[in-house]
Amino acid sequence: MTNLDKLKIKIFADGAELDGILELYKNRYIAGFTTNPTLMNKSGIKDYEGFARKLLEHIPDRPFSFEVFSDEFDEMERQALKIASWGKNVYVKIPVTNTRRESSVNLVKKLADAGVQLNVTALMTLEQVSDISAALGNNVPSYISVFAGRIADTGRDPMPLMKRAVEILSPHNKQELIWASPRELLNIFHAEEIGCHIITVTHDILKKLSIVGKDLDEYSLDTVKMFRDDAVKAGFSL
Ligand code: E4P
Repeated sequence: MTNLDKLKIKIFADGAELDGILELYKNRYIAGFTTNPTLMNKSGIKDYEGFARKLLEHIPDRPFSFEVFSDEFDEMERQALKIASWGKNVYVKIPVTNTRRESSVNLVKKLADAGVQLNVTALMTLEQVSDISAALGNNVPSYISVFAGRIADTGRDPMPLMKRAVEILSPHNKQELIWASPRELLNIFHAEEIGCHIITVTHDILKKLSIVGKDLDEYSLDTVKMFRDDAVKAGFSL
């Protein structure tokens, strides 16, 4: 299937560039937004709260995930409650463990029970999915972000794991699985195929949405023209 209008999966944009995010907000295929400290650092953001609040002023009506960055659970909790207070559409990203490999499961349960919308992030195993799904329960809408692309980076096919993750979440109708860290546009269709609820896609990959379903003869010709134009621009001679 190569028709965006027929997709059931929701596409979220993953990024940290204000202009790019605001441009994508105009795109009807973008149902929500995510960011993370690595993307924010790459974009040169220094004022975390100022950046987030500016985005939320412009985008008050689609889910937006912002991540805590402490390595201590009590401080993560404080940050989570603060971030959650910035808007009704905010989801707080909690990493599945801290850097000492200690599970965030107790904090996740506490925050979910308190009604905080969470996006538990950086999961890569089914054991993590089961534990976090049980901790989240069904009190409040939540996301579980499994980093399918990073799993694929290790030479493993993420499809069977992602398929099983969908099944693990299925008893909880307020939990949605996010296919995180896609590596190519085709992953949107992979995620759709296994019934994943959401895929979060970087701005670079999203630029390719306009060529979904493009005629391959036309695309081949565009490619030939690109080589010819660039050779002319470079002034090559032999
Ligand atoms: C998701 O929310 C993450 O921000 C993102 O998918 C991370 O992807 P990466 O593996 O490209 O860092």
